[in-house]
Amino acid sequence: MEKFIVKGKTALSGRVKISGSKNSAVAILPAAVLTANTVQIDNLPDITDVRTMISILENLGVNIRRRGVDAVDLTPGSLSKVAPAYDLVKKMRASYYFMGSLLARFGQAEVPIPGGCDLGPRPIDQHLKGFSALGAKINIEHGMITLTAEKLTGARIYLDVVSIGATVNLMLAAAAAEGKTVLENVAKEPEIVDLANFLNAMGASIRGAGTDVIRIEGVKKFNSARHTVIPDRIEAGTFMLAAASTGGAVTVEDVIPKHLEAITAKLRETGAKVILAPETIRVEADTPLSPSDLKTFPYPGFPTDLQPPAMVLLTAAKGLSVVTENVFDGRFNHVDELKRMGAHIKVEGRTALIEGGYPLTGAPVTAPDLRSGAALIIAALAAEGDSEISAVDHVDRGYDHFEGKLISLGASINRVHDKGFENRAGNLD
Ligand code: EPZ
Repeated sequence: MEKFIVKGKTALSGRVKISGSKNSAVAILPAAVLTANTVQIDNLPDITDVRTMISILENLGVNIRRRGVDAVDLTPGSLSKVAPAYDLVKKMRASYYFMGSLLARFGQAEVPIPGGCDLGPRPIDQHLKGFSALGAKINIEHGMITLTAEKLTGARIYLDVVSIGATVNLMLAAAAAEGKTVLENVAKEPEIVDLANFLNAMGASIRGAGTDVIRIEGVKKFNSARHTVIPDRIEAGTFMLAAASTGGAVTVEDVIPKHLEAITAKLRETGAKVILAPETIRVEADTPLSPSDLKTFPYPGFPTDLQPPAMVLLTAAKGLSVVTENVFDGRFNHVDELKRMGAHIKVEGRTALIEGGYPLTGAPVTAPDLRSGAALIIAALAAEGDSEISAVDHVDRGYDHFEGKLISLGASINRVHDKGFENRAGNLD
């Protein structure tokens, strides 16, 4: 594992280019196996999860041609296996998207049950309910999920829970199912729309992505396509919150401001200045911040993935802020680490009370997962004194050259190998 040594009291300033969306890329890459023809994907983020996903594709027999760090050509013509490599799949939860895409291509898929992880229980009952409705037989034993379908047939499926993963997986399977599928109460995230655009470019017939109801007419054949992944709204929001948390002034470039409305509104509520332009957003926070209550919800609500960095911002706002985490049961792992840095936070179930205005102080802390890790790095930049942040490999999974981008904004961060650290947490996110 690796750790960061971070110098505190740094107001970030400058401009930073945002990379392609991790959560879009990890859905689009498995989707490529629907066709035997070549698909070209551009604007991929240079992160561990994308490299792992490409290794899984290679192991399945997909022909890979890298075009620089952010582009890849995939030709799944010679795809033979229906069971992605166990050791690779266990590294990332999103590899369960091969259930939907391999089922659609071959009528068969075999993947390990995705483990629980630091965000609390993460069941996949809605995925499995949908696959059954489409005609798949599901067998779960020895920790493996095996799906088989003589034929996939369109169905009407109502999700009991708004789930990004289930929406992605069922879109992938339904795209090749015979007849019409109607998916209701689905996720409306921009990454869902991005995937639908990619699938339609390959010849799918998907309408309504971005609304509660997605209508899919199955097709038999998928062709070549070229697709540019949308910008990562979570990376952009992380830098916007980092600018405000450190009292800096940062412009994020190559973003879609529409995807960041909830973050923009929340920042303005705390008194930060947010200036919008067609493809950039500038955040300036040179005045004291005010407390603000925050509730996470599926899109277009405030994203749960930005709740940890937003909590760091609220520790700097003098007064009481209430954070309610409505998406996951256990997404407050960053709280104990922030308290080691002097934050005054009390957690009751899904609610955290933040008493802001107490300056943070540098301390040795450990990143429990991807977004908590980013939050701790922001806290270390805002704190008095230096901090050591262990297990930053979590952060590498979802942020493209995070320390390099922060250093270009004035941060002082050193990455060192962490000999003493046992990798406590799994890598599932
Ligand atoms: C996606 O995870 C994201 N991951 C997560 O981002 C994100 O936090 C999450 O959506 C919520 O926005 C990717 O896109 C790869 P869900 P996912 O299914 O699909 C419950 C990051 O940091 N649920 O939308 O696993 C579930 O327990 C990661 O980039 C069921 O009950 O999330 C949760 O409470 C972390 N049954 C809620 O729904 C199911 O079958 C939302 O989960 C599926 C989900």
